[in-house]
Amino acid sequence: MNRESVNKSNLKFQNLKIAGKSSLSGQINISGAKNSALVLLAASLLTEEEVFIDNIPNLTDIQKMKNILKTLGVKIFKENNNLVINSKDLKVCELPYKLVNSLRASFFCIGALLARNGEASLALPGGCKIGKRPIHEHIKGLRALGAKIHIKNGFVNAKVDNKCKRLIGSNISLECPSVGATETLIMAATLAEGETIINNAAREPEIQDLCQMLNKMGAKINGAGESTIIICGVERLNGCSHKVIPDRIEAGTFLIAAAATLSSITISPVIPQHLESVLTKLRESGSDLIIKKDSITIKTKYIKSTDIETAPFPGFPTDLQAPFTSLMAIADGDSKITETIFENRMSHISLLNEMGASIETKNNVAFVKGVKELNGAKLLGLDLRSTAAIVIAALAANSQSKIGGLEHLDRGYDNFESKLNILGANIIRESSNDFFLESKIIMKNSICNSKDFQAA
Ligand code: UD1
Repeated sequence: MNRESVNKSNLKFQNLKIAGKSSLSGQINISGAKNSALVLLAASLLTEEEVFIDNIPNLTDIQKMKNILKTLGVKIFKENNNLVINSKDLKVCELPYKLVNSLRASFFCIGALLARNGEASLALPGGCKIGKRPIHEHIKGLRALGAKIHIKNGFVNAKVDNKCKRLIGSNISLECPSVGATETLIMAATLAEGETIINNAAREPEIQDLCQMLNKMGAKINGAGESTIIICGVERLNGCSHKVIPDRIEAGTFLIAAAATLSSITISPVIPQHLESVLTKLRESGSDLIIKKDSITIKTKYIKSTDIETAPFPGFPTDLQAPFTSLMAIADGDSKITETIFENRMSHISLLNEMGASIETKNNVAFVKGVKELNGAKLLGLDLRSTAAIVIAALAANSQSKIGGLEHLDRGYDNFESKLNILGANIIRESSNDFFLESKIIMKNSICNSKDFQAA
């Protein structure tokens, strides 16, 4: 089934039929980074001029962000993977709960809206499948920049209350290096009066990408990629043309899929420096890697256990914790997987155990005893990365699997199964009304069987 032709509202009733014992080979292209593209779209609100963004991935999250920007009066033209964004007629309007909650990252528009319009009104995004996900760092930082913010009945109303409706630069220290808060505050500070210093800023590559685009637009930002970022506010920003960086999480997912299936593949384009912690762990677990300027070749003959602990960049990314757990499930030996970023990111464990893995969890630590092989199963992925994790497990399993939860998978992976099929996997996307119901029953059983499963 061609994903382009699929009605996205039916994704809940689709599943992937995946042949086990897959062997992957060949080369695939890595798409533009979801987390960069989302924030670059928000940043385009900061100018009246046209912004051209190239290498936009084909994802449902991007589609949602485009719809949200359109609600704000933004005009968007698409050609292949390029978008032309024109925010000349940006409106002052409320972003309702339904929209903000459908895409958490849309809350990150608050900084750009405040900077450009002097006011913003958005529903609170609420928690999500992987935990509470507070936004107090965004709010505290915007208040430090002079915004008056009231939170009432699930809405955040923010206003700049001075004559020229301009935020004022400030010295801000984040309690935790939140990616979203760093991005919100960078965007807000670009048009503020005077200098803003963000201490304990997140250092993720997507932040560097954002700053690079903003500097092309005429912003004055120094220190992107470091924990102190200094922004000298300017009066206006202009349009620009920018290409989204390759998606390091998609790249890591394919490398882990190759390792789990004892395969050899090449991925490009990639920025290897963005993947250093992941490459270290893949080497420790027995893979050979050939790293070139913008490509990585992985060759895996056996899988050895190794521990991982997630951490902010340049540490091991939380977004690859679930896929790496699938790899450790079939490794030779025991491993310990520690999740430190999100409070509820272990939903893949009970699914992997359904497939014959031997994993126990205690709080946010998974103790994995590697097994020789996994069994094919019928399972429902519960969030974006846990669905990717069980697709990887299914590729390595000893028989066919059916995996649902594609409404999560398609949020963050651009043509995932097509790319895997190019590498030699045998995956078919099917529509089945029964699947959702049946796999819910499977899930219900696995929840009952696993006392440590934290329902999202
Ligand atoms: C971004 C990424 C997501 C990734 C995450 C961590 C996007 C669209 N999403 O999410 O894929 O998993 O970074 O790398 O870019 N926190 C607070 N207070 C706040 C904000 C965050 O305590 O105001 C905490 C969170 O609860 C979490 C930690 O900070 O424990 C990291 O969250 P954050 O970096 O903000 O994640 P996102 O930006 O939402």
